[in-house]
Amino acid sequence: MMRQKKLAMCIAVTVLFSVVAVLSVFSQEDVKTVQDKAFNPRTMERHGVSFLHDAHNEKAKIGECNVCHHDYKDGKKLEDGSSEGTACSECHKSDDNEDSLPLIRAYHLQCKGCHAEKRKGPVMCGECHVRE
Ligand code: HEC
Ligand code: HEC
Ligand code: HEC
Ligand code: HEC
Repeated sequence: MMRQKKLAMCIAVTVLFSVVAVLSVFSQEDVKTVQDKAFNPRTMERHGVSFLHDAHNEKAKIGECNVCHHDYKDGKKLEDGSSEGTACSECHKSDDNEDSLPLIRAYHLQCKGCHAEKRKGPVMCGECHVRE
Protein backbone atom coordinates (compact mmCIF):
# COMPACT_ATOMS: atom_id res chain seq x y z
CA MET A 1 0.00 0.00 0.00
CA MET A 2 2.73 2.43 1.07
CA ARG A 3 4.75 1.61 -2.02
CA GLN A 4 1.85 2.32 -4.33
CA LYS A 5 1.27 5.69 -2.73
CA LYS A 6 4.92 6.55 -3.09
CA LEU A 7 4.90 5.54 -6.72
CA ALA A 8 1.80 7.61 -7.38
CA MET A 9 3.49 10.58 -5.71
CA CYS A 10 6.57 10.11 -7.87
CA ILE A 11 4.53 10.03 -11.04
CA ALA A 12 2.55 13.11 -10.03
CA VAL A 13 5.72 15.05 -9.29
CA THR A 14 7.33 13.97 -12.57
CA VAL A 15 4.26 15.01 -14.56
CA LEU A 16 4.13 18.36 -12.78
CA PHE A 17 7.79 19.04 -13.54
CA SER A 18 7.43 18.16 -17.21
CA VAL A 19 4.42 20.45 -17.55
CA VAL A 20 6.38 23.30 -15.99
CA ALA A 21 9.34 22.59 -18.26
CA VAL A 22 7.19 22.57 -21.40
CA LEU A 23 5.41 25.76 -20.36
CA SER A 24 8.66 27.61 -19.76
CA VAL A 25 10.00 26.57 -23.17
CA PHE A 26 6.94 28.06 -24.80
CA SER A 27 6.87 31.21 -22.73
CA GLN A 28 8.04 34.38 -24.42
CA GLU A 29 7.32 36.54 -21.39
CA ASP A 30 10.93 37.03 -20.46
CA VAL A 31 12.26 37.91 -23.92
CA LYS A 32 13.55 41.42 -23.31
CA THR A 33 16.42 41.52 -25.76
CA VAL A 34 17.30 39.90 -29.04
CA GLN A 35 20.75 38.51 -28.49
CA ASP A 36 21.10 35.58 -30.79
CA LYS A 37 23.71 33.06 -29.70
CA ALA A 38 24.29 32.22 -33.35
CA PHE A 39 26.29 35.43 -33.72
CA ASN A 40 29.84 34.85 -32.58
CA PRO A 41 30.14 36.90 -29.39
CA ARG A 42 33.81 37.62 -30.08
CA THR A 43 33.18 39.19 -33.45
CA MET A 44 29.94 40.83 -32.46
CA GLU A 45 30.08 44.53 -33.11
CA ARG A 46 26.90 45.49 -31.37
CA HIS A 47 25.52 43.88 -28.30
CA GLY A 48 21.93 42.86 -28.41
CA VAL A 49 18.84 44.86 -29.08
CA SER A 50 16.22 45.77 -26.56
CA PHE A 51 12.99 44.08 -27.55
CA LEU A 52 10.26 43.77 -24.94
CA HIS A 53 8.51 40.95 -26.79
CA ASP A 54 4.96 41.07 -25.46
CA ALA A 55 4.83 44.79 -24.75
CA HIS A 56 6.24 45.56 -28.21
CA ASN A 57 3.73 43.39 -29.98
CA GLU A 58 0.83 44.78 -28.03
CA LYS A 59 1.84 48.36 -28.67
CA ALA A 60 2.48 47.65 -32.34
CA LYS A 61 -0.88 45.86 -32.52
CA ILE A 62 0.52 42.76 -34.16
CA GLY A 63 -2.16 40.09 -33.92
CA GLU A 64 -0.60 37.01 -35.44
CA CYS A 65 2.54 35.36 -34.12
CA ASN A 66 3.49 34.28 -37.62
CA VAL A 67 4.00 37.83 -38.78
CA CYS A 68 7.48 37.18 -37.33
CA HIS A 69 7.56 33.45 -36.55
CA HIS A 70 6.73 32.35 -40.06
CA ASP A 71 7.03 28.95 -41.66
CA TYR A 72 7.83 28.01 -45.22
CA LYS A 73 7.41 24.98 -47.39
CA ASP A 74 9.03 24.58 -50.81
CA GLY A 75 9.94 28.26 -50.83
CA LYS A 76 6.41 29.40 -50.08
CA LYS A 77 5.26 31.09 -46.91
CA LEU A 78 2.51 29.10 -45.21
CA GLU A 79 -0.53 31.30 -44.51
CA ASP A 80 -1.53 29.38 -41.40
CA GLY A 81 1.88 28.02 -40.49
CA SER A 82 3.96 29.39 -37.65
CA SER A 83 7.28 28.63 -36.01
CA GLU A 84 7.25 30.13 -32.53
CA GLY A 85 9.50 28.02 -30.37
CA THR A 86 12.00 27.70 -33.22
CA ALA A 87 14.77 30.30 -33.15
CA CYS A 88 15.25 32.49 -36.22
CA SER A 89 18.81 31.21 -36.36
CA GLU A 90 17.72 27.61 -36.82
CA CYS A 91 16.60 28.53 -40.32
CA HIS A 92 18.58 31.70 -41.02
CA LYS A 93 22.26 30.95 -40.65
CA SER A 94 24.70 33.46 -39.27
CA ASP A 95 27.32 32.81 -41.91
CA ASP A 96 26.87 33.79 -45.52
CA ASN A 97 25.44 30.91 -47.41
CA GLU A 98 23.28 30.67 -50.44
CA ASP A 99 20.63 28.40 -48.95
CA SER A 100 18.99 30.91 -46.70
CA LEU A 101 18.57 34.56 -46.03
CA PRO A 102 21.49 35.29 -43.66
CA LEU A 103 20.55 35.90 -40.03
CA ILE A 104 21.63 39.52 -39.84
CA ARG A 105 19.67 40.42 -42.94
CA ALA A 106 16.66 38.45 -41.69
CA TYR A 107 16.55 40.51 -38.48
CA HIS A 108 17.11 43.81 -40.23
CA LEU A 109 14.61 43.12 -42.98
CA GLN A 110 11.94 42.02 -40.52
CA CYS A 111 12.41 44.67 -37.85
CA LYS A 112 13.36 47.68 -39.95
CA GLY A 113 11.16 46.61 -42.84
CA CYS A 114 8.01 46.83 -40.80
CA HIS A 115 9.04 50.04 -39.05
CA ALA A 116 9.76 51.69 -42.39
CA GLU A 117 6.52 50.46 -43.88
CA LYS A 118 4.42 51.64 -40.94
CA ARG A 119 6.50 54.79 -40.44
CA LYS A 120 6.58 53.85 -36.76
CA GLY A 121 9.33 52.32 -34.68
CA PRO A 122 13.11 52.84 -34.95
CA VAL A 123 15.03 52.60 -38.23
CA MET A 124 18.38 54.20 -37.30
CA CYS A 125 21.22 51.95 -36.10
CA GLY A 126 21.65 53.72 -32.77
CA GLU A 127 17.96 53.58 -31.95
CA CYS A 128 17.98 49.78 -31.83
CA HIS A 129 21.65 49.24 -30.98
CA VAL A 130 21.65 51.52 -27.98
CA ARG A 131 25.05 52.22 -26.47
CA GLU A 132 25.29 51.41 -22.80
C1 HEC B 1 14.84 47.97 -35.91
C2 HEC B 1 16.00 47.63 -35.13
C3 HEC B 1 17.37 47.62 -35.79
C4 HEC B 1 17.97 48.63 -36.50
C5 HEC B 1 17.39 49.99 -36.89
C6 HEC B 1 19.31 48.15 -36.84
N1 HEC B 1 19.49 46.89 -36.32
FE1 HEC B 1 21.21 45.79 -36.40
N2 HEC B 1 20.25 44.22 -35.51
C7 HEC B 1 18.95 44.26 -35.02
C8 HEC B 1 18.66 42.99 -34.38
C9 HEC B 1 17.36 42.61 -33.70
C10 HEC B 1 19.83 42.20 -34.51
C11 HEC B 1 20.11 40.82 -33.90
C12 HEC B 1 20.80 41.13 -32.59
C13 HEC B 1 21.40 39.99 -31.84
O1 HEC B 1 20.95 38.86 -31.96
O2 HEC B 1 22.35 40.24 -31.07
C14 HEC B 1 20.82 43.02 -35.23
C15 HEC B 1 22.10 42.60 -35.52
C16 HEC B 1 23.10 43.41 -36.05
C17 HEC B 1 24.49 42.99 -36.24
C18 HEC B 1 25.04 41.57 -36.02
C19 HEC B 1 25.30 41.29 -34.59
C20 HEC B 1 26.49 42.02 -34.08
O3 HEC B 1 26.34 42.66 -33.03
O4 HEC B 1 27.57 41.98 -34.71
C21 HEC B 1 25.17 44.10 -36.72
C22 HEC B 1 26.64 44.19 -37.08
C23 HEC B 1 24.18 45.18 -36.85
N3 HEC B 1 22.95 44.71 -36.44
C24 HEC B 1 24.46 46.45 -37.32
C25 HEC B 1 23.51 47.43 -37.59
C26 HEC B 1 23.77 48.69 -38.29
C27 HEC B 1 25.15 49.13 -38.78
C28 HEC B 1 22.58 49.35 -38.38
C29 HEC B 1 22.29 50.66 -39.09
C30 HEC B 1 22.63 50.70 -40.50
C31 HEC B 1 21.57 48.52 -37.72
N4 HEC B 1 22.16 47.37 -37.28
C32 HEC B 1 20.24 48.87 -37.55
C33 HEC B 1 18.09 45.32 -35.07
C34 HEC B 1 18.32 46.53 -35.69
C1 HEC C 1 7.55 41.44 -34.02
C2 HEC C 1 7.99 40.08 -34.19
C3 HEC C 1 7.43 39.00 -33.27
C4 HEC C 1 6.12 38.67 -33.03
C5 HEC C 1 4.85 39.30 -33.61
C6 HEC C 1 6.13 37.55 -32.10
N1 HEC C 1 7.44 37.23 -31.80
FE1 HEC C 1 8.07 35.74 -30.58
N2 HEC C 1 10.03 36.32 -30.82
C7 HEC C 1 10.45 37.30 -31.70
C8 HEC C 1 11.90 37.40 -31.64
C9 HEC C 1 12.75 38.34 -32.44
C10 HEC C 1 12.33 36.43 -30.70
C11 HEC C 1 13.76 36.12 -30.24
C12 HEC C 1 14.56 35.50 -31.35
C13 HEC C 1 14.50 34.01 -31.43
O1 HEC C 1 14.10 33.35 -30.46
O2 HEC C 1 14.89 33.44 -32.48
C14 HEC C 1 11.13 35.76 -30.22
C15 HEC C 1 11.11 34.71 -29.31
C16 HEC C 1 10.00 33.95 -29.02
C17 HEC C 1 10.02 32.71 -28.27
C18 HEC C 1 11.26 32.05 -27.71
C19 HEC C 1 11.39 32.41 -26.27
C20 HEC C 1 12.72 32.04 -25.66
O3 HEC C 1 12.80 32.11 -24.43
O4 HEC C 1 13.66 31.74 -26.40
C21 HEC C 1 8.73 32.26 -28.19
C22 HEC C 1 8.24 31.00 -27.51
C23 HEC C 1 7.89 33.21 -28.90
N3 HEC C 1 8.70 34.22 -29.39
C24 HEC C 1 6.53 33.09 -29.04
C25 HEC C 1 5.71 34.01 -29.67
C26 HEC C 1 4.24 33.93 -29.69
C27 HEC C 1 3.42 32.83 -29.03
C28 HEC C 1 3.81 35.03 -30.41
C29 HEC C 1 2.38 35.45 -30.70
C30 HEC C 1 1.53 35.65 -29.54
C31 HEC C 1 5.00 35.76 -30.84
N4 HEC C 1 6.12 35.12 -30.35
C32 HEC C 1 4.99 36.92 -31.60
C33 HEC C 1 9.64 38.08 -32.49
C34 HEC C 1 8.26 38.08 -32.51
C1 HEC D 1 11.24 27.30 -39.89
C2 HEC D 1 12.25 28.10 -40.51
C3 HEC D 1 12.22 29.59 -40.31
C4 HEC D 1 12.18 30.28 -39.12
C5 HEC D 1 12.11 29.73 -37.72
C6 HEC D 1 12.26 31.69 -39.47
N1 HEC D 1 12.34 31.83 -40.82
FE1 HEC D 1 12.49 33.59 -41.87
N2 HEC D 1 12.35 32.59 -43.63
C7 HEC D 1 12.43 31.21 -43.77
C8 HEC D 1 12.48 30.87 -45.18
C9 HEC D 1 12.59 29.48 -45.76
C10 HEC D 1 12.41 32.10 -45.90
C11 HEC D 1 12.45 32.31 -47.43
C12 HEC D 1 13.78 32.87 -47.83
C13 HEC D 1 14.88 31.89 -47.56
O1 HEC D 1 14.93 30.82 -48.17
O2 HEC D 1 15.70 32.15 -46.67
C14 HEC D 1 12.34 33.16 -44.88
C15 HEC D 1 12.27 34.50 -45.18
C16 HEC D 1 12.45 35.52 -44.26
C17 HEC D 1 12.44 36.93 -44.57
C18 HEC D 1 12.20 37.56 -45.94
C19 HEC D 1 10.74 37.43 -46.35
C20 HEC D 1 9.82 38.10 -45.39
O3 HEC D 1 8.93 37.41 -44.85
O4 HEC D 1 10.00 39.28 -45.12
C21 HEC D 1 12.71 37.59 -43.39
C22 HEC D 1 12.81 39.08 -43.21
C23 HEC D 1 12.85 36.59 -42.33
N3 HEC D 1 12.68 35.34 -42.90
C24 HEC D 1 13.11 36.85 -40.99
C25 HEC D 1 12.97 35.92 -39.95
C26 HEC D 1 13.06 36.23 -38.52
C27 HEC D 1 13.45 37.57 -37.96
C28 HEC D 1 12.79 35.08 -37.84
C29 HEC D 1 12.66 34.86 -36.34
C30 HEC D 1 11.70 35.72 -35.66
C31 HEC D 1 12.55 34.04 -38.84
N4 HEC D 1 12.67 34.59 -40.09
C32 HEC D 1 12.27 32.71 -38.55
C33 HEC D 1 12.43 30.29 -42.74
C34 HEC D 1 12.34 30.58 -41.38
C1 HEC E 1 5.00 43.89 -38.18
C2 HEC E 1 5.59 45.14 -37.72
C3 HEC E 1 6.78 45.16 -36.78
C4 HEC E 1 7.82 44.26 -36.69
C5 HEC E 1 8.05 43.00 -37.48
C6 HEC E 1 8.72 44.79 -35.68
N1 HEC E 1 8.23 45.96 -35.17
FE1 HEC E 1 9.13 47.13 -33.73
N2 HEC E 1 7.56 48.40 -33.79
C7 HEC E 1 6.48 48.33 -34.66
C8 HEC E 1 5.59 49.47 -34.44
C9 HEC E 1 4.28 49.76 -35.19
C10 HEC E 1 6.19 50.25 -33.43
C11 HEC E 1 5.66 51.56 -32.82
C12 HEC E 1 4.72 51.25 -31.70
C13 HEC E 1 4.12 52.54 -31.16
O1 HEC E 1 4.86 53.28 -30.49
O2 HEC E 1 2.95 52.79 -31.42
C14 HEC E 1 7.43 49.55 -33.04
C15 HEC E 1 8.31 50.01 -32.06
C16 HEC E 1 9.53 49.45 -31.75
C17 HEC E 1 10.47 49.95 -30.76
C18 HEC E 1 10.27 51.20 -29.90
C19 HEC E 1 9.97 50.82 -28.47
C20 HEC E 1 8.70 50.03 -28.32
O3 HEC E 1 8.77 48.88 -27.80
O4 HEC E 1 7.62 50.51 -28.71
C21 HEC E 1 11.55 49.10 -30.76
C22 HEC E 1 12.81 49.19 -29.91
C23 HEC E 1 11.28 48.06 -31.74
N3 HEC E 1 10.04 48.31 -32.33
C24 HEC E 1 12.14 47.02 -32.02
C25 HEC E 1 11.85 45.98 -32.92
C26 HEC E 1 12.74 44.86 -33.18
C27 HEC E 1 14.10 44.67 -32.54
C28 HEC E 1 12.11 44.08 -34.09
C29 HEC E 1 12.58 42.81 -34.73
C30 HEC E 1 12.98 41.74 -33.83
C31 HEC E 1 10.82 44.70 -34.41
N4 HEC E 1 10.71 45.85 -33.67
C32 HEC E 1 9.90 44.18 -35.30
C33 HEC E 1 6.24 47.33 -35.58
C34 HEC E 1 7.04 46.23 -35.82
